Amino acid sequence: MTLPVETSDRPRSSPSGATLFSADAEPVPSASGVPFAFVDLFSGIGGMRLGLEAVGGVCRYSCEIDPYAQKTYRAWFGDDAAGDVTQIRDDLPPHDLLAAGFPCQPFSLAGVSKKNSLGRQHGFLDKTQGTLFFHLARIIEQHRPPVVLLENVKNLRSHNKGDTWRTIQGTLEELKYTVFSRIIDAAAWVPQHRERILIVAFDRTLFGSQPPFVFAQPPDHPRPKLADILEPNPDPKYTLTDRLWRYLQDYAERHRRKGNGFGCSVADPHGITRTLSARYYKDGSEILIPQGEGRNPRRLTPREAGRLMGFPEHLLDRMLNGPAQVVSDTQAYKQFGNAVVPAVVESVARQIVQVMQWQLTRSNGCLLKR
Ligand SMILES: C[S@@+](CC[C@H](N)C(=O)[O-])C[C@H]1O[C@@H](n2cnc3c(N)ncnc32)[C@H](O)[C@@H]1O
Repeated sequence: MTLPVETSDRPRSSPSGATLFSADAEPVPSASGVPFAFVDLFSGIGGMRLGLEAVGGVCRYSCEIDPYAQKTYRAWFGDDAAGDVTQIRDDLPPHDLLAAGFPCQPFSLAGVSKKNSLGRQHGFLDKTQGTLFFHLARIIEQHRPPVVLLENVKNLRSHNKGDTWRTIQGTLEELKYTVFSRIIDAAAWVPQHRERILIVAFDRTLFGSQPPFVFAQPPDHPRPKLADILEPNPDPKYTLTDRLWRYLQDYAERHRRKGNGFGCSVADPHGITRTLSARYYKDGSEILIPQGEGRNPRRLTPREAGRLMGFPEHLLDRMLNGPAQVVSDTQAYKQFGNAVVPAVVESVARQIVQVMQWQLTRSNGCLLKR
């Protein structure tokens, strides 16, 4: 089914009251023909945003507390992200989709004070009090975005003996959303083993209880290799000093003897890397690049770290070029290690757009005529 691309700048309302097409933002023709408005919470440097824009999303609001991530976000998108998600009240612009790569925290009923619980049944939402997910859930309850897209670490499902995941899923269901989730490895798009949970939730009052959503199969084109993203002449400052290299090898050996595999890892350029973490800046030990016989390995350059996450070259130029580098190497590594791979988001968002199209046409099979 191919639908016409919306070209009018007239705002249109979805049954829930959210605009399906933005009034003052440029309507962006998407691959599948449904421009939609979204808000980008816990936006980091905008991995979610890039994936959503690739399928026609128009960002109406972003929120990120870290001033350095805000700097990169500004350099990349020209937008100032608002600060603290917990300060959001009823001031979000209308949106069709709420995106959030929120930090994971344990939930405990101990956080619910007696006073708060007086006269209230303990639902899942109560269980999340005091956490960032609680604020997110409140925003969802208040604004009722037709679609919610969340991203988190794979361990979210097993975190706190499964209680964290049960609470998140239960809260969304309690808020009348139908929830889909899948662990996706970004290795189909970038030369990095990076498993993340993607959670998609549809407002039941709008989409019914069985929206036809499915996660796409990963593309079956040849997978990228680490060698594809390496710089030909990296600055020698990224080579490990003899002292650090010795220390890392000893540390790895100590752990091996204790029977746990934790240690440093020299990557195979013809393969893929381990997961880039936000602590990569410390010593780079999880992904070291071999430099041949007689030379110590090196860490990834910040540009290589950005490529490993699949961020486009023109944005990396804007962030990392020359003396005007927007943030320090340390901040750049942290930002990439915290980010989501945009291509993974794009793949999920493309499937969401299919459901939006289905919703737009299902009443009478006609997009424009009500
Ligand atoms: C897992 S990262 C999300 C990264 C993002 N998906 C990206 O592609 O860059 C979580 C982000 O939430 C931000 N954060 C943590 N607490 C916050 C708060 N209270 N308000 C807004 N942002 C917050 C962190 O600074 C971090 O950048």
